[in-house]
Amino acid sequence: MTGTVLVTGAGGRHGGTGTHLTQRLLEQGVPVRILVRRESDASRALRTLGVDVVLGDLHDRRTLEPALDGVEQAYFAYPVAGGVTSAAANWAEAIRRTGRPIRTVVMSMGPAHPEHPSALGREQWLAEEVLRWAGIDVFVLRIMALFHENLPLLHGRSLAGDAVIRTAFGASALSWINGSDAAELAACALLRPELFDGALAEIPGTELRTHQEIADVLTGVLGKPVRFEPIGVAEWRDELTAIAEGALNADMAAHIPNVAAGVLRRGTRMTPDPDRYAELTGRKPVTLASYLESIKHTLVPG
Ligand SMILES: NC(=O)c1ccc[n+]([C@@H]2O[C@H](COP(=O)([O-])OP(=O)(O)OC[C@H]3O[C@@H](n4cnc5c(N)ncnc54)[C@H](OP(=O)(O)O)[C@@H]3O)[C@@H](O)[C@H]2O)c1
Repeated sequence: MTGTVLVTGAGGRHGGTGTHLTQRLLEQGVPVRILVRRESDASRALRTLGVDVVLGDLHDRRTLEPALDGVEQAYFAYPVAGGVTSAAANWAEAIRRTGRPIRTVVMSMGPAHPEHPSALGREQWLAEEVLRWAGIDVFVLRIMALFHENLPLLHGRSLAGDAVIRTAFGASALSWINGSDAAELAACALLRPELFDGALAEIPGTELRTHQEIADVLTGVLGKPVRFEPIGVAEWRDELTAIAEGALNADMAAHIPNVAAGVLRRGTRMTPDPDRYAELTGRKPVTLASYLESIKHTLVPG
């Protein structure tokens, strides 16, 4: 039986991997503690399911040490936003101070690379390095795909307004995965570590789609024509920056167009492999079409 797992990011507003993971661990009978910055309806609901809720901040090491008390493993997720290196440094120091071999599974992304055109991609890579240098027990799960949940975040407004999705990815076919499936992989890494070799796994997405194909799927789901309009990297950055708020923060608004710049310059290393996903989790992945169907009520003008 696995001891208590500390889950960060369980109030997630974007991919929500921490929330999905918490639910999955509860289903498996694993004791879960979540670290949130503030109480919310989501944290109160999890409390009623038996989750231990602690308040803390990845930028304040002092709040992390008590949160780690009695914990055997932990899940580290930081939003697609600046500050992950400092969060990782605080995390590593807090674990070192416990003097116990707490294992951390880290959610990471394909752009985590020292030379990536996105500053967030380079910072995510550096955060991984910091955790490694610290000498703590870390397993990095690099998801080599875009989350489905990016679609409403980046295109919700233009879909509701003009029934259009605009990106700088051009005709590139990209690898996609649902946030809940990324969380499923994190659950595997926590509960069945023997499935993975070494301290880092690059796990492919589950489906290959261009944005034109996504517009076609949306046309069917919404029952009205949805267009895809390719635009340049700078134009997309300006467009996203102008609407940046909440989960689509300013750092993410700059990051995604730079991911597109990298794909246009060098192609993508992100090739989906649904069989690998099924082999690891024993489940079928969520398809992009079924995800869009499940959120279609949010994609129409209110
Ligand atoms: N988006 C993609 O396409 C994609 C693809 C592959 C991998 N990934 C990886 O997925 C990760 C993001 O996971 P996700 O989508 O599950 O995250 P998410 O839904 O954005 O949730 C992030 C959580 O972190 C919390 N948080 C923010 N700052 C914090 C702080 N200082 N201290 C404590 N908690 C803090 C947020 O809480 P609040 O509610 O208080 O803000 C939120 O609950 C990224 O690191 C990225 O590497 C993303």
